[in-house]
Amino acid sequence: MQNIRRITDDVFYVGASDRRLALFENVYPIERGVSYNSYIVLDEKTVLLDTVDHSVSREFLENVEAALAGRALDYLVVNHMEPDHCSVIAELVLRYPGVKIVGNQKTVQMIKQFYSFDVDSRAYIVKDGDTLSTGKHSFTFVFAPMVHWPEVMVAFDSATGILFSADAFGTFGALSGNLYADEVEFEREWLDDARRYYINIVGKYGVQVTNTLKKAATLPIKMICPLHGPIWRENLGWFIGKYSTWAGYEPEEKGLLIVYSTIYGNTANAMDKLAALAAEKGVRNIHMYDASKTDVSVLVSECFRYSTIVFASPTYNAEIFPKMSMLITELKEHAFQNRDVAVVENGTWALSAGKKITESLEGMKNMRFLVPTISIKSSLKADQEGLLEELAAKAAESVNA
Ligand code: FEO
Repeated sequence: MQNIRRITDDVFYVGASDRRLALFENVYPIERGVSYNSYIVLDEKTVLLDTVDHSVSREFLENVEAALAGRALDYLVVNHMEPDHCSVIAELVLRYPGVKIVGNQKTVQMIKQFYSFDVDSRAYIVKDGDTLSTGKHSFTFVFAPMVHWPEVMVAFDSATGILFSADAFGTFGALSGNLYADEVEFEREWLDDARRYYINIVGKYGVQVTNTLKKAATLPIKMICPLHGPIWRENLGWFIGKYSTWAGYEPEEKGLLIVYSTIYGNTANAMDKLAALAAEKGVRNIHMYDASKTDVSVLVSECFRYSTIVFASPTYNAEIFPKMSMLITELKEHAFQNRDVAVVENGTWALSAGKKITESLEGMKNMRFLVPTISIKSSLKADQEGLLEELAAKAAESVNA
């Protein structure tokens, strides 16, 4: 059964959502599912922009067939070759053998790596800034390398002002009928997933995202059609602003984030005391996570969100506790930078977690340590409360600056 959605007179949504998948890219939990967006333009020539993941291929193929209503498919634009968008290319070629595949040199190379069909005879290779006219519509291709893979490009349609933005401006979360961001409570219900999606998928490439945003700023964009999540037709500046903040590694909010690992609760108790002291000093936006209870993708996203972060960990096998170690590694891999931080360690003998966390944080850009590492031996004692008082005071200065 087709489930096509009209966007303009001749532009249609032909994607679909998956709520069964537990882990996106087999790593990120997606409680709210995910959508794989695809768009078709029925101009003098017909143009399909990207395909979908295998999981929704049947719905997608029915949508494409219904949208074409007997017409041939003339062009398939491949903005991104990750398999969550390119899984149906070979099937499309079988169904529409005359289709021209629009991509760049890197796209074609990747198609050859993933597939065995003859791509050279049907490749329509574009360079950065090239335009494809299909009648009324005219698509300009803007290369967006590393947003999220090196071959990525976005397509701007001058007839409608639509930016087909590939992974950019996407989010986790299945679509539930409402297709547009202005039809849902995006800030309340979607923003956390949008942030987690961006930070974890593309967060490492802030410089490249910033460059792409600069290029996009020169285009008269009226609508953004991403490959995941709702379409943007209102308040574009607000969401582009979020991207600009995230890509610039600027904190999105002034706030105190306390992430701890704890084995028997002693480190957790110390952090509860720290949070209370900070609250008494006027800090209001305080958030606490046990790294063993929250997926690391959420923790990474929260670290990008707040200005001021305390990392607390027991020593375990003479290392950082495993769940905290994973967070620190992920932050490093995502080029995390530019925060006020502090480190608290705990251990009954041979403390070493603090030194190892500190060394990792020192390897990141613009990390400002609020206080020297606080070392707890087994449990917090009254004579150490002063150290937490000092950290709470510095955290208050950082958050309220
Ligand atoms: Fe949604 Fe990079 O693929």
